[in-house]
Amino acid sequence: MTGGEIRARPRHRTQPLAPRPLHSGMNREEAYALMLEHTPSESLRRHMLNVEAAMRWYARHWQEDEETYAVTGLLHDFDYERHPQEHPAWGVRYLREHTDTPPEVLEAVMGHATYTNTPRITRLARTLFAVDELTGLVQAAVLVRPDRDIRQLELGSLKKRFRNPAFAAGVNRAEVLQGAEELGVDFEVHLRNVLAAMQEMVVAAEPLPPVAGT
Ligand SMILES: [Fe+2]
Ligand SMILES: [Fe+2]
Repeated sequence: MTGGEIRARPRHRTQPLAPRPLHSGMNREEAYALMLEHTPSESLRRHMLNVEAAMRWYARHWQEDEETYAVTGLLHDFDYERHPQEHPAWGVRYLREHTDTPPEVLEAVMGHATYTNTPRITRLARTLFAVDELTGLVQAAVLVRPDRDIRQLELGSLKKRFRNPAFAAGVNRAEVLQGAEELGVDFEVHLRNVLAAMQEMVVAAEPLPPVAGT
């Protein structure tokens, strides 16, 4: 798909970079299409939509650029299914070569994987790291409910799930705590925020009630 034999064009290193605003470099729809193209699995698609919702919530909370946060969330694992061994470096390289995604988004994507040792300097990077694993815990807590309804999931239940290491054992509790601390948000408040973000997404996606008489 990427044409392995095609080499990236040489860069003119002496040419100064044009100043760019803090913007995602691609809009949400383009990022969504790219994610779908590279991610056949429903569950991984769902994960990136969940992370997008949490990123949007925090962008609004801090009055930062919501589109940039959304795109970062949508793209952060887009390469994982096809390039798990090279994730997220493969994806970041792809974005750098094929899109004008700005450096702060690329750095945030690199930074969500602790093994890359990329420092998380920006709030964008810290938010992605803080919500990534936690959305997985929330999703797992929804899936064990008989009604599978996130709107009925309560904070207390989520806290209990978090404290039980046998529940959703793949969710790295230490990283979740570290993420909230780096972000500077109290852990319980962070749990509540991410739950609210995911609940709001589901409510927003609900079909409108039928118009009376139709
Ligand atoms: Fe990842
Ligand atoms: Fe992720």
